[in-house]
Amino acid sequence: MDVAKLVSLLLGSNQQIETIWGVNNAKGPRVPLVLIPTTAGTGSEVTPISIITMDDKEKKGVSSKFILPDLAILDPLLTTNLPANITASTGVDAMVHAIEAFTSINSNNNPVSKMLSIEALKLLGSSIKTAVFDGHNINARSNMLLGSMLAGKAFANSPVAAVHALAYPIGGLFNISHGLSNSLVLTSVMKFNSKNEETKKNYAHLAPYVFKNFDNSKNDEFLCNNFIDGLERLCKELNLPYRLRDLEIPEEACKLMASEAMKQTRLLVNNPRKIEESDAYNIYKSVW
Ligand SMILES: [Fe+2]
Repeated sequence: MDVAKLVSLLLGSNQQIETIWGVNNAKGPRVPLVLIPTTAGTGSEVTPISIITMDDKEKKGVSSKFILPDLAILDPLLTTNLPANITASTGVDAMVHAIEAFTSINSNNNPVSKMLSIEALKLLGSSIKTAVFDGHNINARSNMLLGSMLAGKAFANSPVAAVHALAYPIGGLFNISHGLSNSLVLTSVMKFNSKNEETKKNYAHLAPYVFKNFDNSKNDEFLCNNFIDGLERLCKELNLPYRLRDLEIPEEACKLMASEAMKQTRLLVNNPRKIEESDAYNIYKSVW
């Protein structure tokens, strides 16, 4: 879908690819664009963003309203044969979109994007395990597609932050899928962010939407910690690898990944707590 977005723009305009990277540099026009997702994860079918892996492994992005598709078609039948591991990692990616959109400090975070995040998390949280372990359950597959689309709309308004910034070097340098890269650093970044009082409150607010058995009369500290622990448990239950070392990523790479993550300024500015290179390094080390 991300390639289709850029192809439609390059075919329909006189722009060269070198000139369109970054925010609002793609000016169009483009040829018609219809996107049909076959995973429930990126939400790319409703976002103005395209992320492309370059020859040197760096991920580059285009963000422009001109690559928002004309039409998105969600058909759960196209996802019933998706293997469990891809269902799990892409599903967690969608959850990360909703969580990061909700807590983003981008000036365009707004009540509508927050509402989209919450609705996405309700659908994704209630269906991800069924979709992974009973892939032909059409109701769960449908919820996952709707949830990932709503999460896409949430972060198209209120962009994602440090989880994605730290995930990109893992994916780019070691060819790990985007969803798995996100799940690897998700809870460690959340622990770091939760030192910020406002973010702790936000995580506490989201917790009962994902985990319905949570008692929301508990205090923010309790709910926030349980939310993070619950997500860590969920990723393990979904059989996602949770240590970098298990993916043959050497410990020495933590340093390089931390410096690469700092290049993702487009995302880091949205993070609710400022992340320095040394913080990124500690986060990678903690999940190594
Ligand atoms: Fe993502």
